[in-house]
Amino acid sequence: MANVTVIGAQWGDEGKGKIVDWLASRADAVVRFQGGHNAGHTLVVGEQVYKLSLLPSGIVTGTLSIIGNGVVLDPWALKAEIEKLTAQGVAINADNFAIADNCPLILPLHRDLDGLRETAAGSGKIGTTGRGIGPAYEDKVGRRAIRVCDLAHLDALDSQLDRLCAHHDALRAGFGQPPVDRDALVAELRDIAPYVLQFAQPVWKRLNQVRKAGARILFEGAQGVLLDVDHGTYPFVTSSNTVSGTAASGSGLGPNATGFVLGIVKAYTTRVGSGPFPTELEDATGQRLGERGHEFGTVTGRKRRCGWFDAVLVRQSCAISGVTGIALTKVDVLDGMEKVKICTGYRLRGKVLDYFPSHAADQAEVEPIYEEMDGWAGTTAGARSWADLPAQAIKYIQRVQELIETPVALVSTSPEREDTILVRDPFVD
Ligand code: IMP
Repeated sequence: MANVTVIGAQWGDEGKGKIVDWLASRADAVVRFQGGHNAGHTLVVGEQVYKLSLLPSGIVTGTLSIIGNGVVLDPWALKAEIEKLTAQGVAINADNFAIADNCPLILPLHRDLDGLRETAAGSGKIGTTGRGIGPAYEDKVGRRAIRVCDLAHLDALDSQLDRLCAHHDALRAGFGQPPVDRDALVAELRDIAPYVLQFAQPVWKRLNQVRKAGARILFEGAQGVLLDVDHGTYPFVTSSNTVSGTAASGSGLGPNATGFVLGIVKAYTTRVGSGPFPTELEDATGQRLGERGHEFGTVTGRKRRCGWFDAVLVRQSCAISGVTGIALTKVDVLDGMEKVKICTGYRLRGKVLDYFPSHAADQAEVEPIYEEMDGWAGTTAGARSWADLPAQAIKYIQRVQELIETPVALVSTSPEREDTILVRDPFVD
């Protein structure tokens, strides 16, 4: 059976929620493999709107939902999100939900550090979601993390806590903060432990079992390739690998399990937080894209920066993530524009580049080279076949496909599940 890996091919917020929801309804298991509760997925099912930050999207339809080891887990945020969904009538139990027991925890001290650093950085801040994601990943690779499995052995945690607190106390002192209240931390962990442990298990084992049994697995990526800690606009990135390859290492299945890689691509570009953005529009056109596209963050409510479609960046994302096909979203936001532009290359100190350079100074300095196309007067909103689209909109989509060197698998034309033009079914191919 085919599996599908969904990733964002820009800076996140590409409209993954709807596509993932559609695929989740046809999957046997849905797995989150990186990030944490910094993600924001809005699912609209009938009259109900579900807002997810940490839980896999399959949870809403009762599909087996798994948080893999590549995620950093805030146990208190987990409990709050489960309680919110339960109040909306979603059943979540140990049969349909599992957490990797080797998943590192986000602790209150990580949130503190995230906030302290961002405040101290002033205008040089990353613009994080403030959820403690970066500091938690630092402790993971620094081999100081408290993991889900440690919650079952809190009495044997002394030497780990020594290392963790020694590290954080030094950092906190630098910010003029008191040391970690170790007793309070242990008390909080003791309190939340039974709640988390009811879902904890070696999920690599469960996933390998369901795979052998022929299950269709959906790997649900969060953020986007341009926020990847290796391949993104470093240092203005998140602290995990957001590329498709992480689906394997972040869940405990081999790379041959990840299947069709579906890159979610918005018909224009947005970004939340700081960092380079070559095609950003700080004018009335950018304002219009933001208003028509309702570009406000799901997690933090921040206004998203908006700009023209950047084919160079998306081509790079698709190559790095081995994208099989893309889902193009929010084309309707461009409806009614007289002209539309696509970035096809960059100019940097007199040279023309067909890729996005690695150095932050070069990234900040590149100037986009644009191709201008006529816009379209009709509407694409709600279209369900090519015949429903204005001819010029089809030309735009075809040009995007050509420039990013990756085929379009589907086009999403509204938040409604049915408003989709399906070219190639990722689960069938
Ligand atoms: P962090 O992941 O909270 O450390 O934030 C690092 C960067 O990633 C910031 O620019 C955030 O705005 C961005 N970011 C994190 N999660 C998301 C997301 O789900 N969508 C869009 N941007 C995100």
